[in-house]
Amino acid sequence: MISAHLTIDPHFVVGPINRRLFGSFVEHLGRAVYEGIYEPGHADADEHGFRRDVIELVRELGVSTIRYPGGNFVSGYRWEDGVGPRAERPRRLELAWHSTEPNEIGLDEFATWLDKVGSEMMYAVNLGTRGVEEALDVLEYANLNSGTALSDLRIAHGTPQPYNIRMWCLGNEMDGPWQLGHSTAQSYAELASKTARAMRQIDPDLELVVCGSSSGQMPTFGAWERTVLEETYDAIDYISCHAYYEPLNGDFKSFLASAVDMDRFIDKVVAIADGVKAVRGSDKTINISFDEWNVWYLSRYREVDRVSGVDSWPVAPRICEDTYSVADAVVVGSLLISLLRHADRVTAASLAQLVNVIAPIMTEPGGPAWRQTTFYPFAVTSRLARGVTLDVTLDSPSYDTDRFGSVPVIDAVATRDEATGQTTVFVVNRSMEEEVTIDIDVRQLGSVALQEVQSLHDDDIHAANTLEHPDRVGLRGNQSAILADGMVTLQLPPVSWTALTLG
Ligand code: AHR
Repeated sequence: MISAHLTIDPHFVVGPINRRLFGSFVEHLGRAVYEGIYEPGHADADEHGFRRDVIELVRELGVSTIRYPGGNFVSGYRWEDGVGPRAERPRRLELAWHSTEPNEIGLDEFATWLDKVGSEMMYAVNLGTRGVEEALDVLEYANLNSGTALSDLRIAHGTPQPYNIRMWCLGNEMDGPWQLGHSTAQSYAELASKTARAMRQIDPDLELVVCGSSSGQMPTFGAWERTVLEETYDAIDYISCHAYYEPLNGDFKSFLASAVDMDRFIDKVVAIADGVKAVRGSDKTINISFDEWNVWYLSRYREVDRVSGVDSWPVAPRICEDTYSVADAVVVGSLLISLLRHADRVTAASLAQLVNVIAPIMTEPGGPAWRQTTFYPFAVTSRLARGVTLDVTLDSPSYDTDRFGSVPVIDAVATRDEATGQTTVFVVNRSMEEEVTIDIDVRQLGSVALQEVQSLHDDDIHAANTLEHPDRVGLRGNQSAILADGMVTLQLPPVSWTALTLG
């Protein structure tokens, strides 16, 4: 058995935890919208055709902000197609995912659904096939009170009050060759800058997200961020990061250390943003919107799922429907640890995505909805990670990985909520073989008691929840936790994620 040591001191604060760190993403992709959140014929559908069981699960997941309507989808989207009388809405070719978009759900319906789940909208504008004018139009439609053509159109469509959307993404992954309207950093930056300035003429207080790289492995990574920030710095508030992880060639040792890559990615983007800030002599700090992150079996999508053929344009095909294992959930938990560790600079994030498509929630048409393994670390972290992130000191043994070099076996972060007096430690054991004993020095917290310990672990790291066995994997209590003399001792099974609350 190996051991690790963690020290927690409430005086050392990284920064406040923005609730927007627990955002997610709904794209018009596969069965995320149709048969996902919306299935009018379902026995549990409400008066708007939204599945009540899914609404309940989204609320339980604790999702703050939801990015919409894409993703790659947005780069060919005409927002006007999705508003007004349904019978008059066009069916369109959807080029990003090779589908047909029926446009039964658009901005107004999605806003209605968001009210039901209690989340905030983060809206992406199309800078792939469209530009400044369409961004201004959708902003006017969504956010203006009344008295103009488009605000009055929204009212005529049944929504008297504006949506007051605060966060807007200026396009999506414009560095990616797969993206409709893919462009160089310079031409994207000029368009994003013009769009941002124009949108601010309507509302100077909008929070605008410029596209960073679609992954830290893109050949243009770094140079893209620098060029885009140099051009847009004064006009925007956030730069986006996107990252997806999967076990490549069965390399679980590297996969379980994916958060090391996320840490490095964030640190590099922060360094570039602060470099641009320094050169400009600016007082303004650009933060990160990590608005796509998850485990995604992208190689399976490319090899198995992808729709193609000039005669094949299905509505809501079953694509990107990954079934998540215990190992995947531990990685999701560790990616949340990475995001929390950077709470001072990552002030918004979106788990990509929410329902059916690389999602914590799955549905069957006419059948049930269920929680994937990844649901659990997200729901618990969203519920417990309140207040501020603490800068912990961790002493852990290491192991070697092919992709990320030597990495710590244990990763951990702590959060503290002054309002409730609660401190929560989130910890993962990445070892595939060894149980780890961790000692957590909590003497600086004063007089506290153990309140809650929950773990995600299974002897079979490939175990998953499915339609047939929706509750195969869930949270477990961890009976090993002992608090004595200001020291918590906890056994961490191999490939496990744990949240421990003191208060
Ligand atoms: O989330 C799935 C896809 O991943 C998004 O549409 C795109 O932005 C990214 O490449």
